[in-house]
Amino acid sequence: MTTFLYGYVSELTMSDVYSPPDRVVVESHCKGMDEYKKMYDESIKQPHKFWGNIAEQFFWKTPVPDDLSEFMKYNFNVSESPIKIEWMCGAQTNICYNALDRNVEAGLGDKIAFYWVGNDPADKGQITYRELLAEVCKFSNVLVNLGVKKGDRVAIYMPMVTELVVAMLACARIGAVHSIVFGGYSADSLATRILDAGARVLVTADGVYRGTKLIKLLQIATAAMEKAAEQGQEVSHHICVSHLPRLVNPGTEEAMQEHTASIESGWKTGRDNWWHELMRDALPDHTPEWVDSEDPLFMLYTSGSTGKPKGVLHSTAGYMLYTATTFKHSFDHQPETDVYWCTADIGWITGHSYVTYGPLLNSATSVLFEGTPFYPDHRRCWEIISEYKVSKFYTAPTAIRSLMKFGSDQTKPYDLSSLKVLGTVGEPINPEAWQWYHSVVGQGQCSITDTYWQTETGGHIITPLPGATHTKPGSACFPFFGVVPEILDEEGKVIEGEGEGYIVFKQPWPGMMRTVYGDHERFEKTYFSKFPGYYMSGDGAKRDKDGYIWITGRIDDMLNCSGHLMSTAQIESVLVEHSLVAEAAVVPIPHLIKGEALYCFVTMIDGEVYTKEIRDQLKTMIREKIAPFATPDYIQEAPGLPKTRSGKIMRRVLKKIANDETDLGDISTMADSTVVEVLFSKRQEMLDSK
Ligand code: PRX
Repeated sequence: MTTFLYGYVSELTMSDVYSPPDRVVVESHCKGMDEYKKMYDESIKQPHKFWGNIAEQFFWKTPVPDDLSEFMKYNFNVSESPIKIEWMCGAQTNICYNALDRNVEAGLGDKIAFYWVGNDPADKGQITYRELLAEVCKFSNVLVNLGVKKGDRVAIYMPMVTELVVAMLACARIGAVHSIVFGGYSADSLATRILDAGARVLVTADGVYRGTKLIKLLQIATAAMEKAAEQGQEVSHHICVSHLPRLVNPGTEEAMQEHTASIESGWKTGRDNWWHELMRDALPDHTPEWVDSEDPLFMLYTSGSTGKPKGVLHSTAGYMLYTATTFKHSFDHQPETDVYWCTADIGWITGHSYVTYGPLLNSATSVLFEGTPFYPDHRRCWEIISEYKVSKFYTAPTAIRSLMKFGSDQTKPYDLSSLKVLGTVGEPINPEAWQWYHSVVGQGQCSITDTYWQTETGGHIITPLPGATHTKPGSACFPFFGVVPEILDEEGKVIEGEGEGYIVFKQPWPGMMRTVYGDHERFEKTYFSKFPGYYMSGDGAKRDKDGYIWITGRIDDMLNCSGHLMSTAQIESVLVEHSLVAEAAVVPIPHLIKGEALYCFVTMIDGEVYTKEIRDQLKTMIREKIAPFATPDYIQEAPGLPKTRSGKIMRRVLKKIANDETDLGDISTMADSTVVEVLFSKRQEMLDSK
């Protein structure tokens, strides 16, 4: 077998199979593979029936069409451009109404929607469905009073506080398009996204603690607004949540004074407003804007292999049905008894679909966690699970691997018996981490769901179902309802049975993206041009002899560092902005905790010497221009880069050098092979000086 998944998987581990535990099966929405197959078949052959039945649980101002030709319309063939995906055209609804009003009207007003758990264990709170609805109505009125209309883009840059959920649902309620930017991004990244979306309204918070570190969100946002304005995009209204003063431990008096002073110096009357001041006078009633099924709900930026982030655009009704259904089935949600916790930040798609929309549409009670699994120490997750009796837990392989370092006894003092389903997302999970999750966290009593999906797909597309699937550690197993994957070879030929290649999708499911905001051509080119007739995810996959699907990772110039997808081109373009750097190439290297780390090669301009200072400057530039999470682990000097005769950088060779693999394969097309030896010796020099 070829090595893949960074060599973690062997024939031996591929044959391990885990049956769903009885305690999960008895209450499951899908109790076995026969039931799964029946439901799956209907979802593919009669999508209007399958999704139409699900749609009945929701409120529609104008009903969904019932014949297939109106229910699902699409074109996946670039030669018959434009690519088009439409679901339930003609119907009208509002996702916020379905997530809140519908639940309150069903008598669930007093049910807890979120337990809010702060970074500091002393900070906690909770909000019911009724309270959340009132806050959302008030904020909808605030936005309307500021002149925000249906279709306007609202940028949101916030920590994991309930106001973030309120802001996004208020946008949905009035038909505005939210564009959430993860609170770990730099001012430059936020400015680019404000600019691209043409957002005139920005919602932020003053700051947040991540562990012991204070992140000055407002300062970063103020700088971003200036940068966006310089490029012609004025933010006319900025609304800021005053979060720090309400914390039990907001920081030393001195630090807070300094923080207040910095807020005052950047504050622009007229543009900047405090959230609590606007909310004080807002009314708690608001009639939702009824929107068409295909009206846009939100955009969310994801890395593109050409460097510029893409604004992935999702529409309303299909996304609503898909996040609700994937949440219900992938976690086997039990509304009466479950407490669900997804550790992802709402700034990523996982947070959109599985912190906010999916859970609320299912009237779930969730934990909304502001902190990190390592503060005050590595026991934080176990403390929260036992305190709130969490039954469904969803996190990333990188977090699991980091926690594994603290040994298998760490969970012993905690009662984790409430757990039933453990989910993972964001990158391939190595079988060792899977098994640790299963035996140490799940105590052998839980189903593991390794959910494969993307920002673009809106929700899980390949995933086990907790009560049905016999799982294999490291495999995302089988397609979700409505999803038809194929594995293709380089020529686009379908691989039947066992084999490895590109994973593509033959028909749309309701929750998939509709376009790249403002650039439909890029949408078609990125996802539909290599294999006409298919959506291409950009990942490789293998199907084993039992039909299980194993995602093998990206096959384009992207890398996945701690579950954050990044393009090598984006990092390279920052490196070459340094006045002394002539050229740069970035490749991923395997990393035990992060999955992949960044390894950069930089060529100095003629006559300039690469120094430790330059290395530090480059790291700072990446932190400031992209985000701290994009900081490379290695930057090595490259007096010359391996290139083909036509001048194309041979990344395949660079990957080998970064990994200290001397067998470079066929390098006959390399213009100057002497660079290789120099690169190996510079690599050693770099490691010696570390
Ligand atoms: O490479 C796949 C990997 O993450 C990519 C999507 O990243 P992003 O859009 O940021 O969304 C992350 C959260 C859904 C995919 O193209 N990926 C995600 N989940 C898995 C995965 N790779 C393997 N197994 C997974 N479960």
